[in-house]
Amino acid sequence: MSKRVDGLVAIVTAGGQGLGEAIAKTLAAEGAKVVVADRNVEEGNRVVAEITATGNTAVMLEVDATNAASVQKMVDAAVAKFGPVDILVNGAGGFTKFTPIAETTEEDWDHVINLNLKSAFLCSRAVAKGMMEKKSGRIINITSGAGIMPNPFAPTYVPYAAGKAGMIGFTKALASELGPHKVTVNAVAPGTALTPRVRKVRDAASIEKIASQNPLRAIIEPQDCADAVLFLASKEARMITGEVLKVNAGNLM
Ligand SMILES: NC(=O)c1ccc[n+]([C@@H]2O[C@H](COP(=O)([O-])OP(=O)(O)OC[C@H]3O[C@@H](n4cnc5c(N)ncnc54)[C@H](O)[C@@H]3O)[C@@H](O)[C@H]2O)c1
Repeated sequence: MSKRVDGLVAIVTAGGQGLGEAIAKTLAAEGAKVVVADRNVEEGNRVVAEITATGNTAVMLEVDATNAASVQKMVDAAVAKFGPVDILVNGAGGFTKFTPIAETTEEDWDHVINLNLKSAFLCSRAVAKGMMEKKSGRIINITSGAGIMPNPFAPTYVPYAAGKAGMIGFTKALASELGPHKVTVNAVAPGTALTPRVRKVRDAASIEKIASQNPLRAIIEPQDCADAVLFLASKEARMITGEVLKVNAGNLM
């Protein structure tokens, strides 16, 4: 069977770890030339070494996805290395600690909104022209269940939910704008995923509890998100745009 994104050029921001790592490896295994774009050079290089060791193609490019000049430099270098970008996965995001609203500083707010929302704007802007010229392209934004329905039983960090909800509006507006240019824009909304980082901060009991609350009685793995991204990047998804694909074992319907 032919590979599903054979020969396509893909940028995966936050590709050095967690969901982004699984996405980068999956796209590479399916034939894409992958740019692992991450702030963490060491981890990005590790992912690239693991990809190339399997005979697939990847390069590490350092980027701060919240900084316009850094993003432009990364995209220019990606195009110089592999050619025009076919697939952009906006994976950069997250937050480091929950803080109640009254203690959330303006700096915290700006940092989390920039990381989860502005980064997607900057990276999408940097690839949009090339995709419009090619009359093809896929932009896939990694949002979160927190951006759709914050957990009513446990507080969700407000700037994170706001950034991820903003990303959904961003996805739909950009899908409308770029649709006539045959560029699709979609989002994947994972529930809690068992990334190495999540495994570090959650004990077995809390992982079991999350799984027990999901209709599928399971907790998602990074590969589940990577498979959803691969589908949205593949030709089978060519008529899907402006969609938010939840990958959460049914946690939120
Ligand atoms: N892990 C989950 O359970 C989960 C659930 C829902 C949504 N998400 C979303 O999925 C995405 C990936 O999450 P994760 O948990 O796998 O991430 P992670 O925290 O494990 O890794 C984040 C990666 O992003 C990189 N990074 C951080 N800031 C950056 C910046 N400014 N520019 C470029 N790279 C930067 C880090 O170096 C790291 O490699 C995020 O957008 C997150 O919000 C994760």
